[in-house]
Amino acid sequence: MAGQTEIATFGGPVREEILPFCRPDISQAEIDEVVDTLKSGWITTGPKTKIFEQRFAEYIGARHAVAVNSCTGGLHIALAAAGIGPGDEVIVPTMTFCATANVVVHLGATPIIVDVESDTLNIAPERVVAAIGPRTKAIIPVHLYGHPCDLETIYEIARKYQLLVIEDAAHAIAAEWRGQRIGRFSNYLGDCRHATVFSFYATKNLTTAEGGMITTHDDAYAEQMRIWGLHGMTHDAWKRYTSEGSWYYEVVIPGFKYNMTDIQAALGLHQLKRLEEMMQKRYRLAMRYNAALRDVPELQLPVCRSGVRHAWHLYPIRLRLELLKINRAEFIEALRERGICTSVHFIPLHRQPYYQERFGFELSDFPIAEAAYQSLVSLPLYTQMTEQDVDDIAEISRHVLTCNRNK
Ligand SMILES: Cc1ncc(COP(=O)(O)O)c(C=O)c1O
Repeated sequence: MAGQTEIATFGGPVREEILPFCRPDISQAEIDEVVDTLKSGWITTGPKTKIFEQRFAEYIGARHAVAVNSCTGGLHIALAAAGIGPGDEVIVPTMTFCATANVVVHLGATPIIVDVESDTLNIAPERVVAAIGPRTKAIIPVHLYGHPCDLETIYEIARKYQLLVIEDAAHAIAAEWRGQRIGRFSNYLGDCRHATVFSFYATKNLTTAEGGMITTHDDAYAEQMRIWGLHGMTHDAWKRYTSEGSWYYEVVIPGFKYNMTDIQAALGLHQLKRLEEMMQKRYRLAMRYNAALRDVPELQLPVCRSGVRHAWHLYPIRLRLELLKINRAEFIEALRERGICTSVHFIPLHRQPYYQERFGFELSDFPIAEAAYQSLVSLPLYTQMTEQDVDDIAEISRHVLTCNRNK
């Protein structure tokens, strides 16, 4: 902490250096592998992407891993390859990033947006059941912030109503549900035609700058997703410029262009090797936040239910606004003035103009997400931070909240 400086509102400690909300953790090994790839003569989908897929599948414990250029693309082809299209409905939680629902719209299907659980803010299984109708084809549970959804209940619902499950695991690499890594669980109850999609976006726990991976246990589904992800061309079309490949290919469906490059895979290979060490660091920082903020009455801290391993992608606190004179925007501004960048995850889908206008939502249709949204603030959490950074953020947050108690 830099010390006391005069600032516009209610004084207190200020950091000398601004702490960004996020910064990627790239080691020399990633840099060397990228340079090696650039010099190798093969920079797009190729041998490194294949190795990354194999190692990722092994790590998760899934039969297949299909590398893509984003989680958004992965969700899109997971739905497309399952035949989701016009007339179909897909159930999604309101508390998520827009990509989860946008891909449903891209296929001409209808996202059915539902409310969430009050503690984890993950999709609420009873809301899923209430939303199921004759056109429902799939559910996209989102492991929000890295906290696993109640997968057993969700897969039981899917079996009962014959629905596909596409897990949005953008936040949840290395998370576990009852001892099983997220991405592996999809053959629970014996039906393996489900998929899990991860994000390797710049802010994620494992990054390839942009990128993603789909895991599934189903051979035919994996093959279909590969075809959908590369122009709809027959398998191994990416090899057509290698000595093993052939000039001949066939376009069997009007697919998309979602392949991962070897430059991205070069990053991913080393990020995957370092993942556990990075996870330990995230976990330690999250526990430090918990210890430092536990006794602040104006805060509700993120939960971690028993039986799960949280990936701690984000550290979202909720302000108890009824105890405060300031609102969420003023709290964020007070932290920014004191050198701390924060964010909000997420502005729920039911508030986004496209979805609100299309479905005519009232804010009261989503009471749990709505109440949470008003008070959510994500504090910085990434491996490049120090324990001192966490202590600074905790001290500044405590100061701002204490000065603004609603006595
Ligand atoms: C819950 C969720 N789903 C999907 C995505 C999309 O990921 P990507 O940027 O890799 O397409 C994000 C991105 O932040 C996300 O937070």
